[in-house]
Amino acid sequence: MKWICSVSFAVALALQPAFADDNHGQHPLTPEARDAFVSNLLQKMTLDEKIGQLRLISVGPDNPKEAIREMIKQEQVGAIFNTVTRHDIRAMQDQAMQLSRLKIPLFFAYDVVHGQRTVFPIPLALAASWDLDAIATVGRVSAYEAADDGLNMTWAPMVDVTREPRWGRVSEGFGEDTWLTSEMGRMLVESMQGKSPADRYSVMTSVKHFAAYGAVEGGRDYNTVDMSPQRLAQDYLPPYKAALDAGSGGVMVSLNSINGVPATSNSWLLKDLLRDDWKFKGITISDHGAIKELMKHGVASDPQDAVRVAIQSGVNMSMSDEYYSKYLPNLVKSGAVSMADIDDATRHVLNVKYDMGLFNDPYSHLGPAESDPKDTNAESRLHRPEARDVARKSIVLLKNRNDTLPLKKAGTIALIGPLADSQRDIMGSWSAAGVASQSVTVMQGIKNATAGKATLLYAKGANVSDNKGIQDFLNLYEKAVTVDARTPQQLLDEAVETAKKADVVVAVVGEAQGMAHEASSRSDITIPPSQQALISALKATGKPLVLVLMNGRPLAIVKESREADALLETWFSGTEGGNAIADVLFGDYNPSGKLPMSFPRSVGQIPIYYNHLNTGRPYDPARPNKYTSHYYDAENGPLYPFGYGLSYTSFTVSPVTLSAKTMPRNGQVSASVTVTNTGKLDGATVVQLYLRDQVASVSRPVKELKGFKRIMLKAGESQTVTFPVDVKALKFWNAKMQQVAEPGKFSVMIGLDSVHTSDAEFNYL
Ligand code: BGC
Repeated sequence: MKWICSVSFAVALALQPAFADDNHGQHPLTPEARDAFVSNLLQKMTLDEKIGQLRLISVGPDNPKEAIREMIKQEQVGAIFNTVTRHDIRAMQDQAMQLSRLKIPLFFAYDVVHGQRTVFPIPLALAASWDLDAIATVGRVSAYEAADDGLNMTWAPMVDVTREPRWGRVSEGFGEDTWLTSEMGRMLVESMQGKSPADRYSVMTSVKHFAAYGAVEGGRDYNTVDMSPQRLAQDYLPPYKAALDAGSGGVMVSLNSINGVPATSNSWLLKDLLRDDWKFKGITISDHGAIKELMKHGVASDPQDAVRVAIQSGVNMSMSDEYYSKYLPNLVKSGAVSMADIDDATRHVLNVKYDMGLFNDPYSHLGPAESDPKDTNAESRLHRPEARDVARKSIVLLKNRNDTLPLKKAGTIALIGPLADSQRDIMGSWSAAGVASQSVTVMQGIKNATAGKATLLYAKGANVSDNKGIQDFLNLYEKAVTVDARTPQQLLDEAVETAKKADVVVAVVGEAQGMAHEASSRSDITIPPSQQALISALKATGKPLVLVLMNGRPLAIVKESREADALLETWFSGTEGGNAIADVLFGDYNPSGKLPMSFPRSVGQIPIYYNHLNTGRPYDPARPNKYTSHYYDAENGPLYPFGYGLSYTSFTVSPVTLSAKTMPRNGQVSASVTVTNTGKLDGATVVQLYLRDQVASVSRPVKELKGFKRIMLKAGESQTVTFPVDVKALKFWNAKMQQVAEPGKFSVMIGLDSVHTSDAEFNYL
């Protein structure tokens, strides 16, 4: 017995990390304790060990697990991503804690963008809910499931404001508006990090992509960003700042250049702004392979130069390349990179590990091996009710001629379309550790809702696309899209025959998930021609036609919106998508979503966004004039505007009342409206507050969102909604790049979308 004890004591001693004697393994999670601890640890580290901390590595074919284990043992890696089971994560952490000299824990990260095991709707859809409680649910559940898988960090939220529906990554963000995106990002950070990222069921967030990735020219992924400093500060930067103010511990650096300087080599962005002005204390991480790309950007001559530029510009950790490990040792030896630069970057990595609580317990998100789930994909690990509730709140009703919707759970329903029964597509891009076989398709959702009450017929009707190039693109890395071997005409004929037998046609059309993703930019944002032909053929049957849109970006759907009797935007709605869509189709849930991006009529209108400037020659459709700012071959406005979405009930909004006609310097006014549900059904809607600075030293947008509130009203019920407006909402960046609120008249516009508003004005003194 004694012998056993002394052996285990020896083993325990060997397992003791070099820092454990500092505070008996218990380190208070305060900045002071952290700084002292990290300074002490840094002194014990060799140059190579420090450089090792700066490497973030992804497990994959290039880096098999065995090779990674060896690197961990040699302290050549600081963190791991793309490993998502407790079993695998524990094996790596064991390696660090048992075999490396200093026993510095690793942290584990993953792209938990809209769920981990349970997939919630894509972020663009989450934004369409305009519901911060729903976002908090997404954040809490995602963090819980990620932490339960052993993860410590997520590469989210993605808060890249975008006015570019051609860009495939619009699906990952919260749309075109700065205020809405800031609120969504803030709430995700708060709910994912919880009280502390060190908590058992919290993860640290890493806001991305810093900065302005959403403004890539032409919507082409990885392309150039060039914009005025005013626009950058006013419209694109605030959401990152909001996420950092909420405490996000990480920042992922974007792949694009900004005004000629790649973000990865941008010391103004990563040092002057982020560290000096914003006082960010967490970690900056390059995006995948971005340091190498500095050579292609033409700002570094060779790999050594790229590494020098990146570290000196403030990129702490390199993602998925060996450049830091390979070149930093010599750069330091030659004096090209200072030890202070290395210490600074290493300190940030150690700081976040400390904040994650890893120095107290490297296994805090893992627990003992016996507690591992037997089946990581067990049904019991999912949060289906939460996913269904959030998904139905994200659905937007765009059109409902003659109250086609809600449908009756009776008669015969023809369900048509290539996306109607696709478990893969409904999950959308970045579906983390979600498993397609666990997602509910629209077909399954309708079956669940109508069981025994209605007859359901089905025909595919068309392939997602008949274009071989697009099919191959979608199937490049996985068998994502099944191509039906029948001819387009055979598919159409079957669909038309099916439709003719039914009382109503529900067609599920749009994009495959791979069409709205990273590296999935489109030059044409219509529904693919194969599906357009299907919609027209179904329309020709004369049956009531409900189009259920599934897509990850605003689409140009002028023709389809004319053909459809009802149009439901469902985005990619996640694990419980099919049930949520059925809830809305049959009126078990009254739709309340609102568009977070304008839907253009055509690609030619892009960029089209609601908060544009007025120009010197604004176009007035009531009094058309040739020499005004417009297209002669198309309408000026979008097909569906920002903030728009219908309900099965109807609402009215009263005129705006203001608490005062003037706002004193640094004071406040409040603006109120009374919203009444004038229809026969209970329903929710989103009250939106917009402001306009009528005359200023620079031209200001025709309106800007400065507040919103989602309210639930019973049939016949009224509610007064009051928005406080303070000086922060009036501020803008002037020509000298000062953030100011200038005296003068401001319009207040409140409505249920960005076009139809009740207006008032006040004077800022
Ligand atoms: C993407 C990031 C993502 C990273 C890791 C990159 O290609 O741009 O958004 O977090 O990969 O998966």
